[in-house]
Amino acid sequence: MASFTHSQSPLMLLRLMLMTCIIAATSAANFYQDVDLTWGDLRGKILNGGQYLTLSLDKASGSGFQSKNEYLFARVDMQLKLVPDNSAGTVTTFYLSSQGPGHDEIDFEFLGNSSGNPYTLHTNVYAQGKGNKEQQFHLWFDPTAAFHTYSIVWNRQRIIFLVDNSPIREFLNNAAIGVPFPTSQPMRVYSSLWNADEWATQGGRVKTDWTKAPFTASYRNFNANGCVNSPSGSSCSSKSANSINGQAWRTQELDPAARNRLQWVQRNFMIYDYCTDLKRFPQGLPAECRRSRSQIAASLET
Ligand SMILES: *[C@@H]1O[C@H](CO)[C@@H](O)[C@H](O)[C@H]1NC(C)=O
Repeated sequence: MASFTHSQSPLMLLRLMLMTCIIAATSAANFYQDVDLTWGDLRGKILNGGQYLTLSLDKASGSGFQSKNEYLFARVDMQLKLVPDNSAGTVTTFYLSSQGPGHDEIDFEFLGNSSGNPYTLHTNVYAQGKGNKEQQFHLWFDPTAAFHTYSIVWNRQRIIFLVDNSPIREFLNNAAIGVPFPTSQPMRVYSSLWNADEWATQGGRVKTDWTKAPFTASYRNFNANGCVNSPSGSSCSSKSANSINGQAWRTQELDPAARNRLQWVQRNFMIYDYCTDLKRFPQGLPAECRRSRSQIAASLET
């Protein structure tokens, strides 16, 4: 039990002040504390005392980093400013992934383009090693001109992809009808900048222009609210004072306003949806696609 009279001693006051400093320091996003640069030698850089991180790509290599923590359910937010001008052939990623066979993964991948042409934001979900659930979008802003926030909400019921807090995609837990959903493998946050000019830009027709290298993408304000997985178990306390929405992510769903926004994005900016690609699934669309269509049909009837 802490006694009040003790806390008035000068030493105790000093200790309290020091503790306050430590708490304040951990509450701001800091890449030194939160991530490890994992590949690309010195092409990944942490700047400004941990406030910024940049990744770069040249002909010899790209670069990448990963979170120190792994999470079993989380909301992760990252602000990114993508490779400007001619980014054809480059791919910038921000994703969650587990390790080992039968892995789970939740992806944002930004496919670069030649100057003046739009980036494609590619999303996918893997569960127990199975992907093939792509949706792709153009963005309603220039993602190279300023930082924008990209978020993944991953809870037991659903995965929500958000851009500047607008939901762009919802992937429901349809385990009840046999669709695998990530619920048991902890995932880390990963990010990378690499060359994929065999396929990334306009189907691989436009290659990386290496005379423009190095290419650089910038990161700031990484925030993870999640259940941190460790050998001693899982701890779900919200990590920091400035954490977005506290614990709300654990049951987050789309309210009517968010659903309207999702529909606006999907109607105007979605350029590919596996759920409408009948050519790709001649045996019939995946079960979750049939379900979401019948749910939409049902909601239109009422
Ligand atoms: C690049 O621009 C073309 C033409 O506007 C567009 O069709 C394509 O989706 C864009 N993105 C990529 C990655 O090719």
